[in-house]
Amino acid sequence: MEDKKTLFSAVQPSGTPTIGNYVGAINNFVKLQDEYNCIYSIADLHCLTVKQDPQSLKKATYELMALYLACGIDPEKCIMFVQSHVPCHAELTWVLNTITYPGELGRMTQFKDKSRTHQDNVNMGLMDYPVLMASDILLYNTAVVPVGADQKQHIELTRDLALRFNNRFGETFTVPDGIFPKYGAKIMSLSDPTKKMSKSDENINAYVSMYDDTDTIIRKFKKAVTDSDNKIVFDPENKAGISNLLTIYSVFSGVSIEDAVKEFEGKGYGDFKLKVGEAVAEGIKPITNKRLEIIKDKAYLNSVMIKGAENAYRIANRTLRKVYKKVGLYKAEL
Ligand code: TYM
Repeated sequence: MEDKKTLFSAVQPSGTPTIGNYVGAINNFVKLQDEYNCIYSIADLHCLTVKQDPQSLKKATYELMALYLACGIDPEKCIMFVQSHVPCHAELTWVLNTITYPGELGRMTQFKDKSRTHQDNVNMGLMDYPVLMASDILLYNTAVVPVGADQKQHIELTRDLALRFNNRFGETFTVPDGIFPKYGAKIMSLSDPTKKMSKSDENINAYVSMYDDTDTIIRKFKKAVTDSDNKIVFDPENKAGISNLLTIYSVFSGVSIEDAVKEFEGKGYGDFKLKVGEAVAEGIKPITNKRLEIIKDKAYLNSVMIKGAENAYRIANRTLRKVYKKVGLYKAEL
């Protein structure tokens, strides 16, 4: 265990997780758990950057842990914890804030997008979001961070901050690399395939939630926006809708994109969309069954969270102490 590299990633418990979160992130969390020392967090502090209903946030946090487990993340192999249970994340954020420039945060695409969509609540947390994310990653000597394409810029900033700190105060942080799935790093909206699929989309037909039932999933895929030339080929530039559906199909059925293109050659879009919906529903069903079982076992879920937080704290606190020492914070000792 010790000689493996460390991997860190997280998902925000905001809204219900989508198949975009699954394909871009959670599915890889499961695949990578033997290769790395994996640490998976639920980024609840990040959620506070947009308005949340407190009860829903609490529920979503608990349910996301159940989803992680139902998807096959093994708490015996990985550290699984809730971000706010380990205070070091907020503490390191403060220190990293002092080496971060407003200009580099103002340039972040996600900040610009969210400032537009939440004009009534452009708060400091929204701007500082990537620094908290950098703290998440850097506390654990993380070598790799599996994420979807939308997080690429945040990983770049994390690398910049790690290097900047190391240059100023001496070797402290590991400089992490982002890893992105070859296909599915950006699953697109079903109602507008030029837009990323997002759990915060106002149109519920734009995304498939990991909590949707079979009928809902199939109905959403039947409605998926495509194009009018009736050819099933993989060409993300010119045929975004069809290529998105092929990617989703490939991940959920286990068939390669090339084989999927052959399988659907000459078929109509109606047939194709139904088959994609069925493959996704079939993939999600066993996860849902398991998730609903796990959710009932509050004692078990709490024990996973507590054990995870303790293990995470041990590592994070060691890094934080090192940082405090490097920057010159006085430690009183008897
Ligand atoms: P979040 O909660 O928005 O998304 C969780 C993960 O899902 C990926 N993702 C997608 N991948 C493919 N297609 C999509 N349509 C799609 N939508 C989302 C995201 O890229 C992400 O990997 N800031 C992060 C959470 C976070 C984090 C971290 C991640 C907090 N701290 C430290 C890595 C390391 C976020 O908002 O993810």
